[in-house]
Amino acid sequence: MRSLILIGYRGTGKSSLGKRLSRLSGLPFLDTDSLIVQRAGRSIPEIFAADGEVAFREMESRALEAALADNAAVVATGGGIVLDRGNRRLMAEAGFVVWLWAPAEVLHRRIHKDSNRPALTGLDPLEEVRTLLERRRPLYAEVADLELDTSSRPFDEVAVEIEAAWRGAVKG
Ligand code: S3P
Repeated sequence: MRSLILIGYRGTGKSSLGKRLSRLSGLPFLDTDSLIVQRAGRSIPEIFAADGEVAFREMESRALEAALADNAAVVATGGGIVLDRGNRRLMAEAGFVVWLWAPAEVLHRRIHKDSNRPALTGLDPLEEVRTLLERRRPLYAEVADLELDTSSRPFDEVAVEIEAAWRGAVKG
């Protein structure tokens, strides 16, 4: 059975939906950010501050490989996972990939108070969301089997739709 992989910008609901999807599908839930933190024994802001983003991306690729190495799982990924070509290839091969999105203003509202998400540019926070969303959009689109807006419906409803699509895809 193939894994169900969630991609999308920060604040699109990958972790919240991932936990719901794990319950619905019966697959274990894995989160690449949590795997990185467990392995490093440090928080993401600490890793960014001490080692920099390039080192973080390296750890992220190793975490993705680990998450997709064994049995099928629901895998929530960090918002920047698609930046690396190897990550994109691996996800496309290993699973059914769901791209979660929402308008930049909604994402900014959801994430702006979270101190666990280090700044990725020198831009003002809303401008950062707008700019990176535009830059990453083609990369998310390249690997997505399904794309869904998470801003206009309850997560429970979105999860049921994703689970049905995944089930159809793994059968087909
Ligand atoms: C990042 C998103 C974060 C985390 C890191 C970098 C990004 O994950 O991996 O802070 O580049 O968009 P979430 O999307 O789970 O917040």
